[in-house]
Amino acid sequence: MNKTEKYELLTSQICSLIAGETDAVAVMSNVAAAIHQTMGFWWTGFYRVVGDELLLGPFQGPVACMHIAFGKGVCGTAWKQASTVIVPDVECFPGHIACSSESRSEIVVPVFGKCTAQGDVCQMDPKDVVGVLDIDSAQLDTFDETDRRYLEEICRIVGSQWGF
Ligand code: SME
Repeated sequence: MNKTEKYELLTSQICSLIAGETDAVAVMSNVAAAIHQTMGFWWTGFYRVVGDELLLGPFQGPVACMHIAFGKGVCGTAWKQASTVIVPDVECFPGHIACSSESRSEIVVPVFGKCTAQGDVCQMDPKDVVGVLDIDSAQLDTFDETDRRYLEEICRIVGSQWGF
């Protein structure tokens, strides 16, 4: 299977897995596990916005740092920008937080919560970010527009249930 085929399968698997589930930990746990196992990444997990920082959530892979401030590292930057950040080489990202020396490239995708006004998923504002999906690869330059497209769709599905 090529990457697009894997993501197609993964996305439909995730839809079935979390359909109707109302527990945030259960949803994040199975989504992280499904992505990690299907795509073979080094580290796959969620950080939740708790107060003024990101707090480690369900993940697969080696132990990771637990608290990340707004605007710090790749995760805090994706939160602040309210948009996906792709880092081809973590050593070239100023302020990258190294949880594992094996990590070489990274993608962080914000999860937007439900907009109560519109009843839909919010976008493009840090105040609407409820968490981030963080994925690390042990190889350089792993993530491209295909990863962005599918991972943003997966985070949209997760976000539409967030708040649960
Ligand atoms: N590298 C991230 C920190 C989280 S770990 O990669 C799991 C960052 O710079 O925000």
